[in-house]
Amino acid sequence: VSESTVPLVVAIDGPAGSGKSTVARLVAERVGLPHLDTGAMYRSAALACLRRGVDPADSSASVELIRALTITVDGAMVTLDGEDVSTAIRTPDVDVAVGPVASNPEVRAELVAQQRRWAAERGGAVMEGRDIASVVFPDAPVKVYLTASEEERARRRSEQLGGEIGSVAAEIARRDHVDSTRAADPLRVADGSIVLDTTGLSIDDVVTRIAAMVDGARSRAQATAASVRTADDASPAADWPGSTAPRLTGVDLVGSGVVGRSLYRALWVVAQAANRGWFRARYHHSDRIPKTGGFLLAPVHRSNADFLLVGNVTRRRMRYVGKETIWNVKWFVPIANALGGIKVDRGTADRASMKRCLEVLEAGEPLVLFPEGTRKSGPIVEEIFEGAVYMAVKAGVPIVPVGIGGSGDAMPHGAKLPKRIPIDVVIGHPMTIAAGEKSSSRRAQRELSVRVREEIQRCFDEATRLSDARRRGEA
Ligand code: C5P
Repeated sequence: VSESTVPLVVAIDGPAGSGKSTVARLVAERVGLPHLDTGAMYRSAALACLRRGVDPADSSASVELIRALTITVDGAMVTLDGEDVSTAIRTPDVDVAVGPVASNPEVRAELVAQQRRWAAERGGAVMEGRDIASVVFPDAPVKVYLTASEEERARRRSEQLGGEIGSVAAEIARRDHVDSTRAADPLRVADGSIVLDTTGLSIDDVVTRIAAMVDGARSRAQATAASVRTADDASPAADWPGSTAPRLTGVDLVGSGVVGRSLYRALWVVAQAANRGWFRARYHHSDRIPKTGGFLLAPVHRSNADFLLVGNVTRRRMRYVGKETIWNVKWFVPIANALGGIKVDRGTADRASMKRCLEVLEAGEPLVLFPEGTRKSGPIVEEIFEGAVYMAVKAGVPIVPVGIGGSGDAMPHGAKLPKRIPIDVVIGHPMTIAAGEKSSSRRAQRELSVRVREEIQRCFDEATRLSDARRRGEA
């Protein structure tokens, strides 16, 4: 299957005011795909019913009318039988009439068929609506469900279209209700859709995030075309090239002695008590951690508690890469050293610490490195440190992405003591460079780093969802 015959569809669904239209338009521009607002088609159909006096509840009459219409959508320009209706479809009358029209299964079947043709003819598209990921293109490689709090959505709508916020909120709530309770293809989060709550996120954040998913989908499509391994068919640990690497002798690894090992074990147990007792931490998919051989653990980093939390993903002893400032804390230096911590000087292209990391990985030992560089905040996984990918590839070991949900709220920047918030840790698929690719290829490494970032984000989203659900359960 060549890439050009598989339409790259970016499906964006969500309720009114979730920011779909703005986001879909900008994503389309950024990734170079055409954009289709399917809501405009349902609106045009409703407008036609209003004008011809056809009762939308009269199913056969409205289907007949709609089959005879020619609706075109080109960016913001919408025509109905050749007439520009771009503004006429955005009136309150149409807002009210569109629900019943869109609830008619035959109308939907007709418009869905048109939407599929539209995207297929163009080899892909960014499509926004209510049922794109669930019905129109369930196999779309990128599926996003955008949402935002009710207040936020009402605020956006009233800024965009005017109107007093209370009545806008009521209208949105009414339309949400109609759209999500109708029998035919109701608004819902489709299987496999990534839920993006945009409350408090900037438009640019959201667009960047979806554009990164499109990048990932494109590299996956290329990878599939070259029939190479992706994260999804990750093999058990024993298959990974690094896992059978003999323990190198003669390499002097700090903290390998009895003192270092005992201290690690002792701290591991203390960490476990804290993680269990205080955070009630749950670890999901721990079986994905390779049982032997080196690997690079790549967790998201939102809190100082993360060091403690990731320590318990496995009983295997892992070494940590830490920023140099940790070594400024005098009392901690002997501990960090005994633990075999690797100091990285972020200001420079620190060759010495890269070399240490490689030694550890090549010796078949696991290494923890937070690839975002420093502690970040917010729900978006930022650009990751490509040196991490380079090292893992060079050592021939997999990268294991990790998402930690709840730690940012439990112990935000500046907090001295952690709050008692349930934490979920989700371990992702071990990832490695595509088979058949030269490990020295810059392109292949770049591609892996895009996929790793995506997988960390996926794990982070899932972990956050799990932790939030437990918190709500408690509230
Ligand atoms: O997206 P917009 O708010 O303009 O959509 C108007 C209406 O069209 C929605 O409230 C919904 O009833 C309907 N619609 C739909 N399926 C889609 C897109 C829109 O039912 N894919």
